[in-house]
Amino acid sequence: MNIKCKEIFKKFKNCNERGVLNGVSFELDSGNSLSISGPSGVGKSTLLNILAGLDKPDRGEIFFNDICFTNLSNTKKTLFRLNNISHIFQAPNLLQDFNVIENIMLPLRYRGTNSQKSRNIAIECLDEANLLEHQDSPVSILSGGEAQRVGIARAIAMKSKIIFADEPTGNLDSVNSQSVINKLTEICETHMITLIVVSHDDDVIHKMKTKKKMLEGKVI
Ligand SMILES: Nc1ncnc2c1ncn2[C@@H]1O[C@H](COP(=O)(O)OP(=O)(O)OP(=O)(O)O)[C@@H](O)[C@H]1O
Ligand SMILES: [Mg+2]
Repeated sequence: MNIKCKEIFKKFKNCNERGVLNGVSFELDSGNSLSISGPSGVGKSTLLNILAGLDKPDRGEIFFNDICFTNLSNTKKTLFRLNNISHIFQAPNLLQDFNVIENIMLPLRYRGTNSQKSRNIAIECLDEANLLEHQDSPVSILSGGEAQRVGIARAIAMKSKIIFADEPTGNLDSVNSQSVINKLTEICETHMITLIVVSHDDDVIHKMKTKKKMLEGKVI
């Protein structure tokens, strides 16, 4: 799915006068991958949250193919997200009341995939993330890196048309980092998934087909 954003502005209350996002515009073709890097606090997570519909811009528009995402009602936005977007968060945001495999199965179940199929897909993704032994573990016992890998497996399982990943390798050592980023890019290429990754990690940036930086509220 093609992504286009036009002149996105965002300012938080009590934040500096200039605002965090100051006219972000770019376009990314279906199946392409983009890295966004830049200093801490520049607004990278804010931008991903807005692109994914988790936060609203003050002004500007986001299009997925020809659909103006910014103008959809909240209900339609939620449905669009469920069917098309996966988000790997800077902190993995796992559901503490569910174990590892359930965390991966839940979004699939919400989308309407039956229980057995969801379980099979989850097992396959846990295997690829080297986490099969933890399938029945409560997420509270996972290390930071393991939790991050569950978050990545959860996004990969959905095979959404778009994946947003915020510092996906931030908690990982270089071996695990290489392995998950290879897996992520491989899945995206196979399934024509559009991938936007925020990262400082040179190994990650190197794997993306397009590379951009965020500076002074703009993507350049
Ligand atoms: N909900 C909020 N309310 C007020 N200010 C916010 C909010 N969310 C983010 N900010 C501010 O917006 C700026 C950009 O934050 P953001 O998290 O997008 O940065 P970032 O580029 O992702 O940084 P990092 O690399 O450290 O993750 C920061 O100054 C932050 O304090
Ligand atoms: Mg961030």
